[in-house]
Amino acid sequence: MQHETDWERIYEWDSKYYLHVKQAADEYRYLPVSHTEGNYVHMANGMKLLDFCSQVIAANLGYKHPRVTAAIKEALDKVGYVQELFCTEYRSRAAKLIMEDLLGGDGWAGRVRFVTTGSEANEQAFAIAKNITGRPNIITREYAYHGSTSGAAGASRNRYYRATLASPGSAEIRDVPNFPGGGFHIVPAPYCYRCSLGHTYPSCKQADGTLACIKVSENLIRTIGAETVAAFVTEIFYGGSAINPPPEYIPQLRAMTRRHGILWIDDEVICGFGRCGKWFAYQLYEGVTPDIMTIGKGMNGCALPVGGIVISQDIARELDKYRYWSGSTFAGHPVVAASVAAAVEFMLEENIPAVVSQKGAYLHKKLKELEGEHKCVGLAQSVGLLGGFEVVKNKATKEPFVKDDRFATYTGDISQYPEMLISEKCVLNGVMVGSTVPNTVRVAPPFTITEQEIDFGVEVLNKVLSEIDAMCD
Ligand SMILES: Cc1ncc(COP(=O)(O)O)c(C=O)c1O
Repeated sequence: MQHETDWERIYEWDSKYYLHVKQAADEYRYLPVSHTEGNYVHMANGMKLLDFCSQVIAANLGYKHPRVTAAIKEALDKVGYVQELFCTEYRSRAAKLIMEDLLGGDGWAGRVRFVTTGSEANEQAFAIAKNITGRPNIITREYAYHGSTSGAAGASRNRYYRATLASPGSAEIRDVPNFPGGGFHIVPAPYCYRCSLGHTYPSCKQADGTLACIKVSENLIRTIGAETVAAFVTEIFYGGSAINPPPEYIPQLRAMTRRHGILWIDDEVICGFGRCGKWFAYQLYEGVTPDIMTIGKGMNGCALPVGGIVISQDIARELDKYRYWSGSTFAGHPVVAASVAAAVEFMLEENIPAVVSQKGAYLHKKLKELEGEHKCVGLAQSVGLLGGFEVVKNKATKEPFVKDDRFATYTGDISQYPEMLISEKCVLNGVMVGSTVPNTVRVAPPFTITEQEIDFGVEVLNKVLSEIDAMCD
């Protein structure tokens, strides 16, 4: 039954009762959404916003994709909910599609399990890696984001993602005591634009061609003892904070982890399901396969909450001998599984990796034009439809706009951070971009974006960046 929405009431209840994240109560921003359609979010005030970042690089098929919506309705009518010990046609089909149609040719994947979020997928991956190897430590990298539950946040190395409270009125930041617990060790990010080891790519390579960041990572592993390290967790392209590694990085990392008998957890929560122009980003590298892959978001374009893990055949054989004592009320939910199956079937029919590569090439050209035209854009980069750019105060010296850059704690007044300024100004012009770390903006539209819509999004960015140019040296 249709009814008039009483937006005053909505405001009252939301502002009064909901526990809002990333803002103190007096910073509350009321952003009421009326509905969504295609690649657009319609606000209650009538404003229409082009989604240029797929919400949180998640709504990959635009909004309310008809195939996915129909599958949800069917599964809801037919089954609704049963717990994970029951098999449904939806879960079985979704598993087959991922294991055979997307991964079958690569020969490594043994089993898949569906959970509810990407964070939970990483929790599962860490637990399995520690169980299988009997080793306590996990290697993660600077600036990483792997989720916001305890273990996943432990692997996350942006301070403000790990901290639970940050004050708008002072420099106070609060990490939960002992959170996230021990066992996570941090190695350098492959962030060549600002190498934390002070190198310049490619002169960072050792005589045998090894990248300095791989060498330092291996040294840390040797220092704590390879026999204590269960896994090395990475994304391939930093989804949230826009870091693309040099081409040698992932193959060298994989070879190094194999040398030491360390499992590689490939977090494809953002990079997977076509986002980078392949079904999974590891497929961009010849001969590289993970031991555990975590997935989420793009599995169903976020029509419903979902995450998952894929384990290698070796790990699956090992787990097959045991009772995998893990339970989750929502794992393998039939309606969610139906949405995954429908989304993957659609993406297969459309050959989404090819679509993303073609649209991605167009977006890449446009982002590079912005880099060429604006003195505030230090570096623009993209792979497939995962793009972004870094805003600088001085292009020649690469002076960061916010000095603490990726180490910023998000206390005090953050309204002048470039990501905040740019995303606010873009919204006023009808475009939503992704805000991530202080000096970086993400551009990662849904796969359903048209060339005209890319042009419009870039036109708005062009206008907004001209205003930021005026703030540069
Ligand atoms: C790389 C990566 N891993 C894990 C997660 C966590 O996923 P979720 O938000 O579904 O828990 C995210 C979320 O943005 C992510 O970007």
